[in-house]
Amino acid sequence: MNYLCPSILAADFWELGRQVEIVERAGVPYLHVDVMDGMFVPSISFGMPILASVRKRCGLFMDVHMMVADPERYIEELIRLGADGITIHVEACDCIPETLTRIRELGAKTGIAINPETPVSAVLPYMDLVDMVLVMTVRPGFGGQEYIIDCIDKIKEVRRVIDQRYPDVKLEIDGGVTLSNLEMNLAAGANVIVTGSAVFKGDIEANVREFLKRM
Ligand code: DX5
Ligand code: ZN
Repeated sequence: MNYLCPSILAADFWELGRQVEIVERAGVPYLHVDVMDGMFVPSISFGMPILASVRKRCGLFMDVHMMVADPERYIEELIRLGADGITIHVEACDCIPETLTRIRELGAKTGIAINPETPVSAVLPYMDLVDMVLVMTVRPGFGGQEYIIDCIDKIKEVRRVIDQRYPDVKLEIDGGVTLSNLEMNLAAGANVIVTGSAVFKGDIEANVREFLKRM
């Protein structure tokens, strides 16, 4: 089973509610919420108030991607506001096992993310504690970047690890995913597909339908 996960970072914030309604009605299962702090990544996006507002009106699984240094500071609040899953970066947290355990104790799903230059070996110690591995396919921090083709081998490597020992763990990819490279990524073993620009630019409903048809 594959899951499309539109990233609201690429939405038009003037019309955020309406655009989330469009993707929800078009039948996507997940919504990707990119939180940036200007420290772990150069840019600042949005945080708790946006999550809370969207949660109130939207029934989708809220997949919160924490591009934030020391994300453990925010776990309780994110879950209280309605995060269904929280992904932390292996590069950004000094207490990964404790943070993942805490997320699970509070009833949410866990994810661990790796940047393009981080090897797959970095996530192996945490595989028992995660519901999802996120392989970044751009350097995190901005939407609309070009897919880094070298990441495809890492997706395949994570897929092998999952198939061998952790069959319930999902494999998410994030960054530069388009209709043109979707098939290659699915074939490599990704099954949660984050898309920002490729969904929110242009005709959102038509974009979602086209993605869903090919997944
Ligand atoms: C990038 C974010 C992504 C971003 C993807 O740092 O983590 O989720 O929204 O956007 P596109 O699909 O436009 O690369
Ligand atoms: Zn993201």
